[in-house]
Amino acid sequence: MAERQRRVLPTVADTEALGRELAESLHAGDLVVLDGPLGAGKTALARGIADGLGVQGRVTSPTFIIARQHRAGHRVGAPAVPLVHVDAYRLGGDLDELDALDLDADLHQAVIVVEWGRGVVEHLAERHLRVQLAREPDSDVRTAVWEWVD
Ligand SMILES: Nc1ncnc2c1ncn2[C@@H]1O[C@H](COP(=O)(O)OP(=O)(O)OP(=O)(O)O)[C@@H](O)[C@H]1O
Ligand SMILES: [Mg+2]
Repeated sequence: MAERQRRVLPTVADTEALGRELAESLHAGDLVVLDGPLGAGKTALARGIADGLGVQGRVTSPTFIIARQHRAGHRVGAPAVPLVHVDAYRLGGDLDELDALDLDADLHQAVIVVEWGRGVVEHLAERHLRVQLAREPDSDVRTAVWEWVD
């Protein structure tokens, strides 16, 4: 049974470490939906996931290109997978637009991580890992709540 988990993340390093940890349970075809306000740490978490998956290329905010593909690299303890990192912020809730992205990667062969994807991309997979990031005002502390949603 999937259950909701929660963790306080005092620093960006903690957020990246959570990403590496979550990556251990991710496999080809899995969808991760990152939710939370501007600067909440969605890209930082994606960087940790990419690191944990061992994919190639540096993770940056995909804001101006919508989706960035990272080729499979060297992964410890599980089959290597590519990563597709999407920023759905400007998709404006248009479901067709994400489907129309001309991605080289077969989405079923990759792990897909989507910032601002809540309510937009859930249909792409049977279930998804939802991570909700929150930030305290005037503080570096973030809180993550995550669960697998069918
Ligand atoms: N505990 C923390 N976790 C994550 N990021 C932190 C933390 N403390 C400070 N930061 C800083 O907050 C910023 C988070 O930026 P990041 O790009 O990851 O957020 P985002 O949610 O992707 O923003 P956007 O909505 O613009 O895409 C970075 O500058 C990071 O260094
Ligand atoms: Mg971001």
